[in-house]
Amino acid sequence: MTLIKEIIKNAQEGKSAFGMFNASNLEVAQGIARAAEEKKMPALIGITESAVEYAGFLSLINMIKGIIEESSADLVMHLDHGKDPEFVKKCIDAGFESVMIDSSHLEFEKNIEVTKDIVDYAHKKGATVQAELGKIPKLDISVEQGVTLAKMEKTNPDELEEFVKRTGVDTVAIIIGNIHGMYEAEGNPHLDLDLLKILRERVSTPFILHGGSGTPSEDVTRAIKECGIVSVNIDTEVRIAFTTAIHEFFTSGQMVIDPRKVLSVARDAVQKKVEEKIELFGNL
Ligand code: G3H
Ligand code: ZN
Repeated sequence: MTLIKEIIKNAQEGKSAFGMFNASNLEVAQGIARAAEEKKMPALIGITESAVEYAGFLSLINMIKGIIEESSADLVMHLDHGKDPEFVKKCIDAGFESVMIDSSHLEFEKNIEVTKDIVDYAHKKGATVQAELGKIPKLDISVEQGVTLAKMEKTNPDELEEFVKRTGVDTVAIIIGNIHGMYEAEGNPHLDLDLLKILRERVSTPFILHGGSGTPSEDVTRAIKECGIVSVNIDTEVRIAFTTAIHEFFTSGQMVIDPRKVLSVARDAVQKKVEEKIELFGNL
C-alpha cells in the first residue's frame, strides 16, 4: 500500500484528518516538514501549477522530494488543483503518488470525462486521485471590502453519487460553504454540515475540505469527526504566517544582509502555524 493510501485509511479509521499545505519555496516546505516531525503526524506538501511557474518543475519537485527523504515524518508530495490533464499526467510520471485533477469549472459530464481519464492513467501507475465536485469561490485577501463573492455551487448529492460511480475517483473535494482565502470583511464562512451529512450518507469515498483558512475551528472539527473529512487544505494562513514574520522582522528595526537570517524566522512562523493546524485536525 502506498503511504498516501495508508494515511487516508488511518484518518478514516481514527475519525481524524491530516493537513495538506501548499508550498512554493524551500522555507515553507521545510516549515511543513518540521511541524509534521514535531507533532509526529503525517502531512501533505502540495504544489500547484502556479508554484511550478514560479519555481520551475524539477527545481520544486526535487527540492520537496529531498525534504521528504530527509524527514522522519510521514510526508507525501501532492499536486493540488491540477487543471491541465497533461500536467497532471506529467506529475504522475514524475512519481507523485497523490494528485488532484480539478475539472470542477467544467460542466458535469465533461468533469466526469476528464476525471475518469486521469483516474485510469493514475491507477495503472499506483497513484491516488482527488477530484472536485461543485464550485468553490475565491476572493483574494487584497481585494477591498464590499466585493461580492463569486457564485458558489455546493456539491449536489445526486451528482456526487453518479460522479464517484462513473469515475472511480479515490477522494472527493466537496463544496459545502467553504471558500478559498480569508474573508475578514465579509466574515469567514460556516460549513453546511447538514449537507455534508447527506453527502456522507450517499457515498463512502473519503472527503477533502478545501479553503481551510479562516474556517471556524468548531465547524472543521465537526466535519472531521462526524462527516468523514479526512484532509483539510490550508494555504492562505501559511502565506500570512510567512509574510507577516518577514514584515515584523524588518519593521522591528532589524537589518540583515544574509537572507537566511530573515527567511529562517519566516520558516519558524510557518512551522508554528502548521503545528497548530495538524494538532487541530489530528488530535480530536
Ligand atoms: O487547495 C488549497 C486550499 O484549498 C487552500 O485554501 O487558501 O483558504 O487555505 P485556503
Ligand atoms: Zn483548494
